Amino acid sequence: MLGGSSLLLPGLWLLGSVACLRGAAGGDGRKVTLEYNPGRNGSSLSLLHVRAVGRNDTLHYVWSSIGAPTVLLLYTQNESSTLHVNWTKLNSTSPAGAIWVDPPGSVVYSTAVVFTKVFEYNGANASALSTGQGETFYPPYDLADFSWNGSLNQTALTAKFQGVKTSDPGGAFRNGTISFQVTAYEQSSRDSPLPRLLHTANSSKVEFIMDRVAPRGNSSRFLLEVVTVEERGRHKRLNSVQSIDDEYTPTIFEMAQLVSEPHNDSIGSSFFQWKTTAYGSRDASRENAIHCHYQPLQTANRTLAGPSIAHAYFGEALEHSHSIAAINISFGGEDGEVYMEKGYLSWSALLGFGTPPEDTFSPLVIAIMAVALGTPVVLLLAGVLVLLFTRRKRYSEYEPIN
Ligand SMILES: *[C@@H]1O[C@H](CO)[C@@H](O)[C@H](O)[C@H]1NC(C)=O
Ligand SMILES: *[C@@H]1O[C@H](CO)[C@@H](O)[C@H](O)[C@H]1NC(C)=O
Ligand SMILES: *[C@@H]1O[C@H](CO)[C@@H](O)[C@H](O)[C@H]1NC(C)=O
Ligand SMILES: *[C@@H]1O[C@H](CO)[C@@H](O)[C@H](O)[C@H]1NC(C)=O
Ligand SMILES: *[C@@H]1O[C@H](CO)[C@@H](O)[C@H](O)[C@H]1NC(C)=O
Ligand SMILES: *[C@@H]1O[C@H](CO)[C@@H](O)[C@H](O)[C@H]1NC(C)=O
Repeated sequence: MLGGSSLLLPGLWLLGSVACLRGAAGGDGRKVTLEYNPGRNGSSLSLLHVRAVGRNDTLHYVWSSIGAPTVLLLYTQNESSTLHVNWTKLNSTSPAGAIWVDPPGSVVYSTAVVFTKVFEYNGANASALSTGQGETFYPPYDLADFSWNGSLNQTALTAKFQGVKTSDPGGAFRNGTISFQVTAYEQSSRDSPLPRLLHTANSSKVEFIMDRVAPRGNSSRFLLEVVTVEERGRHKRLNSVQSIDDEYTPTIFEMAQLVSEPHNDSIGSSFFQWKTTAYGSRDASRENAIHCHYQPLQTANRTLAGPSIAHAYFGEALEHSHSIAAINISFGGEDGEVYMEKGYLSWSALLGFGTPPEDTFSPLVIAIMAVALGTPVVLLLAGVLVLLFTRRKRYSEYEPIN
């Protein structure tokens, strides 16, 4: 019986691994190149172009710290489409049309994500379920009022925009910074640092980091406001994917995602997904996890203040031509003063084209289920065998009497 289940185990383990690999697949590999300030020489990084070329298509990610930190995702069904920037226009008061892709009309899907504000509130008597509503707020940090420094690592396919508040009378940014760190991917895989997001070659990761920003109270909690821009006729939908499996991200069972709903004849869609956890240390671990909550997605009468590269690409009056949605993501609450201890907070999200990667059960959980479900089956079989064997034995005992 023991032999039976130990044979069953590796078999199901294998099955689990295959299922996991299938879950990780999706989107062939891409050739990724990072370019900073395309078409402009010798200035500090304010615009990063990630070009990800596939077999017959190209994904352009444009990240920028001009105005509020923003990323544009442009999908072209052309493996040689190119991005152009008119810097004079981009730095002017009417930047519409300063960013475009050649050949004209090759972009079949576009979207933007803008990181607009960081809110801080007093969470002293926040309940466990508090998401920062009805609390005392300090004046928000408008990320468009920050000055940003950029750096890039071509081999690691990463770039970092690090910002401090331009006018900082309170001194919160004397030692502190807010950063957005970008990672591009050429293949499908799973990230090694927590929260170990599963990614495809069609996606990029953004990590929001608050490092030693002085809190304005003893029980400060933070909220990040994220705004998305979609073509008119499409809408972002917020959904939550629950899992019973926490092998990759201990104690976290929820993945939240904003997915664009394609309309009738449109091509493509995108996603912005995150696990509901942040970490309070450079070495992310289960011990310094900070739980994230999110507020309902706001879609009614939203506007987006400029400047940003979203205005440069979509046009200045983008409220009229595009659907805008916004969401607040809050960090901490029931887990006490994790930010206060180390002065560090890091939260990761994945932005990508197509359908979001989906976690399947990990091999460990499949093995546990196999044991749990397999053992009764093995016991049953053993029971039947024992029964057959003893019955036959009884017959053989009776035989000599005949
Ligand atoms: C691109 O290639 C994929 C398969 O590799 C195919 O399904 C798709 O139709 C192609 N698209 C175009 C526009 O050729
Ligand atoms: C860039 O924009 C400026 C200002 O709008 C315009 O005068 C100039 O012709 C543009 N340059 C190119 C190469 O399109
Ligand atoms: C919140 O805390 C303050 C003191 O810090 C206290 O006076 C107040 O009663 C508390 N409110 C609630 C609802 O617990
Ligand atoms: C900045 O760091 C210095 C030295 O570590 C410390 O003395 C000072 O209090 C810090 N300032 C703020 C606003 O955190
Ligand atoms: C914050 O904590 C310090 C020391 O623990 C205390 O002196 C101060 O009054 C507290 N501030 C507030 C606003 O509660
Ligand atoms: C985020 O929270 C702040 C503070 O409560 C609020 O002013 C803002 O409108 C919220 N944004 C969204 C998109 O819910």
